[in-house]
Amino acid sequence: MKDSALYGNENHAFMKTSDRINSVPMSGIRKMFDLAGPDSVNLGLGEPDLDPPREAVEGMNAAASAGRNKYGPTAGIPELREAVAERYSRYGKLSASNIMITPSGSSGLLEIAETFINPGDEVLIPGPGFVIYGPHAQLCGGKGIEYRLTDGDFQPDTDSIQDLITPATRALIVNTPSNPTGGVLSEESKKALLDLAEDKDFLIISDEVYDSFVYEGKHVSFMDRLDRAVVSNGFSKMMAVTGWRMGFVCAGEDVMGDLIKMQYHVCASPNMPAQYGILNALPGIDGYLENARRIYRTRRDLIVSRINEIPGMNIVPPKGAFYAFPSYDQNISSADLASELAKSGLICTPGSAFGKYGEKHLRFSYAASEEKIEKGTDILRNVMARL
Ligand SMILES: Cc1ncc(COP(=O)(O)O)c(C=O)c1O
Repeated sequence: MKDSALYGNENHAFMKTSDRINSVPMSGIRKMFDLAGPDSVNLGLGEPDLDPPREAVEGMNAAASAGRNKYGPTAGIPELREAVAERYSRYGKLSASNIMITPSGSSGLLEIAETFINPGDEVLIPGPGFVIYGPHAQLCGGKGIEYRLTDGDFQPDTDSIQDLITPATRALIVNTPSNPTGGVLSEESKKALLDLAEDKDFLIISDEVYDSFVYEGKHVSFMDRLDRAVVSNGFSKMMAVTGWRMGFVCAGEDVMGDLIKMQYHVCASPNMPAQYGILNALPGIDGYLENARRIYRTRRDLIVSRINEIPGMNIVPPKGAFYAFPSYDQNISSADLASELAKSGLICTPGSAFGKYGEKHLRFSYAASEEKIEKGTDILRNVMARL
């Protein structure tokens, strides 16, 4: 059923929604979520199950109680822009004028697309990759073209990227650590992408929302290359505040004015009390994150070892984020397999939701308790044995 049919608008020309919105699909992640019964084990959504830092909640409550409930500066409150610049100076030379606070990583990415993509432009997007990159390019009149990530360690395959570059190539999106693969970009891959971007003159858009969750090696950021890249990041995953809708964009001062202009037309200004909450927690966040990483890492090891015990399934331990993205041998599409699992009480996301290179994989979020991971992988083992 077309989404607009849900509202009974099919017969009203004046209610006909735009070709633009009709050209993009609904997220395959949300579709599976809607299938979840009350007793299902849900490993489908990438949402931390940890509590946010106490300082964040207290800071937000105090700001709301103190009357900070009005519009604020379009780019975010200066104190938070400064605190973010200071924290992320570990990756590059940054000041508050390189930072715009956004109403979520998702909106930051759309604002970047709206600011840089012209109709007809091609945007290279990772495959398998997060579900919004292609639709964002399309909503701007451009086109998302999938480039392949290598098997196992999920690095951008620069040879295949070279074959995809055309005179219309405007930007390449990189996501590290990656949703859905858990892959972490290597220094060599970063260098190869930058060399290509310089040679063929395109922009790099780097989505780094999982930068706090790297279990082996280290996060490789593009914040040191704002001459060639624009970076999107956020607080949803970092502080387990997915409902607050708080993110930020990091960019060169020369383009910041246009990004802020775009944000003005999107939302006028980001959520005021939530910005104070983030500000109150950010300086002391390292201890909280260390604990979160320890918890996720234990869960990662658990889900990886349980999946690798299942005949026909295989996963290389992901180095970052909180997703397991195993492949399987059985002769069934990932959408059908995910539906079979849903019927048996396990919600996960079919690899095909992340593009053509995601087929024959499933994505499990391990931002869920060990008990859920155990129950979920029991269901998985039983269903795989039945196939
Ligand atoms: C890779 C990636 N980028 C961006 C986002 C957007 O996060 P938010 O809009 O909650 O900041 C997500 C959320 O799942 C994600 O996985």
